[in-house]
Amino acid sequence: MRFPNIEPQNLEVVRTSVRGDGELAEPSNHERTALRLAQGERVVFEQSEIMIRQSAVHKAKGFRFQVKTDTMKKTVVTGGAGFIGVNLVRELVRKDDSRVVIYDNLSRAGVEKNLAWILAAGGKRVTFVKGDIRDFNGLKKAVKGASEIYHLAAQVAVTTSVERPVEDFEINALGTLYLLEAFRCHAPKALLVYASTNKVYGELLHIPLRKGGKRYHLLKNKNGIGEAENLDFHSPYGNSKGCADQYVRDYHRIYGLKTVVFRQSCIYGPRQFGNEDQGWIAHFIIKGLCGKRLTIYGDGKQVRDLLEVSDLIAAYGAAVKRISHTAGRIYNIGGGLANSFSLLELLDFLKKDGEINPVCDFSAWRPGDQKIFISDNTTVMKDLDWRPKVGKEEGIRRLTGWLREYVAGR
Ligand SMILES: NC(=O)c1ccc[n+]([C@@H]2O[C@H](COP(=O)([O-])OP(=O)(O)OC[C@H]3O[C@@H](n4cnc5c(N)ncnc54)[C@H](O)[C@@H]3O)[C@@H](O)[C@H]2O)c1
Repeated sequence: MRFPNIEPQNLEVVRTSVRGDGELAEPSNHERTALRLAQGERVVFEQSEIMIRQSAVHKAKGFRFQVKTDTMKKTVVTGGAGFIGVNLVRELVRKDDSRVVIYDNLSRAGVEKNLAWILAAGGKRVTFVKGDIRDFNGLKKAVKGASEIYHLAAQVAVTTSVERPVEDFEINALGTLYLLEAFRCHAPKALLVYASTNKVYGELLHIPLRKGGKRYHLLKNKNGIGEAENLDFHSPYGNSKGCADQYVRDYHRIYGLKTVVFRQSCIYGPRQFGNEDQGWIAHFIIKGLCGKRLTIYGDGKQVRDLLEVSDLIAAYGAAVKRISHTAGRIYNIGGGLANSFSLLELLDFLKKDGEINPVCDFSAWRPGDQKIFISDNTTVMKDLDWRPKVGKEEGIRRLTGWLREYVAGR
């Protein structure tokens, strides 16, 4: 239904029972057209829209606007301009009826390119709030009325956390607590998915392993590391993410909120701006494509299981679908043994498959670096009826293809 020739400044709220996502324009006294808006209807201005949450009577004159019934749910993605975030937002707007709010301070270099891409790809369904996870008031506004929250915003590098532990704590631990409080007080019926990390298990020095060929091997734990493994936070990043991981879980136990934690292994895929501090697969490929030298910390035989980002997002979706069962749970998630590579093995693969061959220097081990981490996916596979679909070779080719375009275009 369209109402022609009405200006926003001439919209008057007669009974001020309107609660909007945005501010109503200053009402004027002109009274020509009276509109009755029911709960769930939206007023759409040229740029902004206001959802009517309670019945209200408006009087308006000379103003063009549309009244629609709002059936879209609101989803908030913190860190939504980042690598995992932007892939997630793309999937959310592709597959369901969400309007998605990206809440990000754009502090990660390169993510403004992701943001421009998703705003163009997502159209009106995606809105961006430039905000910091340490800003409690900003978070309260952002989550109000949300039905799903994905918490991905973080200080993501162990190296940076060692240099600036207080800032790392404020972003990862305190920022998560602020978000949980905003969620508890302003959207308690929503659900929240948290991107935690396998770093909560520390260096895993007690796990028997051997060095052989170009990698470390697990001697027992053949399926990898499960959720029952002891927590052993190591490095400020391990501590701050681990602290957040425990708070997220506990907000389910103490307040009954619907939260799910994923302890993620190495995630990789398109739109990842890897650098020496985080995102090692993309970093190796970028170095190779640019003909730059690469530093390997340790002996290069350390092993990670790789999970392509689309598989991670499928797991988020499956957890949300089964929220009555998954609320309060924690899942280890990674590519598993079949999708594992040591650093040296990845270099061999890149050379053979993509003719990418960076010159390597070796340096001392980094603190807390696990010699081998393979996620035991047994629980996540069973509970979510999920398994990784993208094999490591196919996934790395996908990422390489995207990075070739990115490097050529920058
Ligand atoms: N990529 C992986 O391999 C991996 C593995 C385990 C866990 N994780 C977790 O997944 C999440 C997403 O990681 P990613 O790889 O997409 O990283 P990313 O750096 O690409 O994305 C993080 C986003 O958070 C934003 N951000 C940082 N500080 C912020 C702040 N103070 N306020 C608001 N926004 C802020 C950044 O600008 C960025 O867009 C993180 O929580 C990370 O710890 C990632």
